[in-house]
Amino acid sequence: MKGFNIGAQEEVLVANVDGVFYAVGNVCPHRAAGLAQGKLHGPEVTCPWHEWKFDVRTGEGITNPHSSIKRYEIILEDEKLLIRA
Ligand code: FES
Repeated sequence: MKGFNIGAQEEVLVANVDGVFYAVGNVCPHRAAGLAQGKLHGPEVTCPWHEWKFDVRTGEGITNPHSSIKRYEIILEDEKLLIRA
């Protein structure tokens, strides 16, 4: 997985889960850590600061179901990954 800036203020995390790419917000909704610095196990990304977990396929919070991250649409075009903001 890797974090990218898109536009002026959005940070996106792109994760490869068994060959399928997913894109979600890179900023943890708890205290704003960069999720790209965390760990990815299967579809679950674990925040590096307080270990909240999120499902990168859906953006849903696993540790806290009331706290999710934005999910972005990914488009594969001419071997490029495009993210629809
Ligand atoms: S900043 Fe992510 S769990 Fe606290």
